Amino acid sequence: MAIKKNHGGDDLFLSRLFSYLQKQLTIQIDKIIPIRKHVYFVKSKETNFILKGYSSYNRLLVQNDFLSALKQEGFEKTYSFHQLAKNPPLQFRNTFYGCLEFIHPSEKKFTYHFREDQEEGLEVLSQFHEITGNLINRFEGIIPSFKQLEKWKERSATFLYNLPVIKYYVQKEILDELLYWADWSLEGIQAESSFFKAEKAAILHGDVAHHNFLRSKNEIVYLIDFDLISIGNPISDLLQYANRILPYLNWSIPELSKYKRFHPALKKKGFLYALAYPTDIFREWNRAIREKSYFQPERKKQLFEITIGQFKERKEFFKALQEKIIEIG
Ligand SMILES: Nc1ncnc2c1ncn2[C@@H]1O[C@H](COP(=O)(O)OP(=O)(O)O)[C@@H](O)[C@H]1O
Ligand SMILES: [Mg+2]
Repeated sequence: MAIKKNHGGDDLFLSRLFSYLQKQLTIQIDKIIPIRKHVYFVKSKETNFILKGYSSYNRLLVQNDFLSALKQEGFEKTYSFHQLAKNPPLQFRNTFYGCLEFIHPSEKKFTYHFREDQEEGLEVLSQFHEITGNLINRFEGIIPSFKQLEKWKERSATFLYNLPVIKYYVQKEILDELLYWADWSLEGIQAESSFFKAEKAAILHGDVAHHNFLRSKNEIVYLIDFDLISIGNPISDLLQYANRILPYLNWSIPELSKYKRFHPALKKKGFLYALAYPTDIFREWNRAIREKSYFQPERKKQLFEITIGQFKERKEFFKALQEKIIEIG
């Protein structure tokens, strides 16, 4: 667990939050340690827990209901909400807080660098979808629908808007190529849109970054952070997962095919078109520009690595996708 300073507010904020919790909780607490914005580790002799803030009461309620539904349906590999407030909800300075069961992390962190972790993450995610497939009726109208095409069109538009800055850092040939992949991909997704509208819908996790998987002390991989859940085709989560691990698979389709879970998807044109979309590159540049962090040396290094460092492999990957689509016909 990376504990960052300055993310959870200053000392004064923390001491006020501490007093608030002391008054409002049914248990005694000893210490609050910020993890990141709105996420705290709370030490208590009775139960250590994670305190997570949500921007509205509604969001907190949805999380609470979703997590208890998940558990009821038999999904064990996540946390439960502790009910520790004397008069719920906990509300401190316009933020609503939930108390999450603390999953004791293993020394060995979950990372997409290793095949074992790639595999285990994929299994947890698939179990998650199997279970959330049964929760659609209950959460329809409460959780939004996932809109792949709209999301990526917006991402492309922002990237285009940011180009006048990006072009100082990335050569034109590469940018032209990236924009070509993006257009080709979006057109393909549009043509195959019926495919994304789900054969069998499930609740998608929506953010399968490595830090939303937790390897616990007893070596079980847990899935956490359901802030971005939506209803859609589970293949959209698989797509995101593939995007996350491909940099560690040298952008190789045969490597991706080693995972049986991807086999059905790799036979679908819609999935192949979508794999071509440079989602990580666009996302990271858009974020770096939004946060004005693109000139920081560490950040710049990371941006260059994904944009330029892996460019040759990604170009080959794009060609392979095109060929595979022709093969399917
Ligand atoms: N239940 C938990 N047990 C242990 N660690 C947790 C738990 N929930 C969150 N964390 C830690 O806090 C980090 C941020 O929490 P997360 O819910 O993912 O918030 P965010 O929405 O800010 O990404 C996680 O990446 C993890 O390291
Ligand atoms: Mg998270």
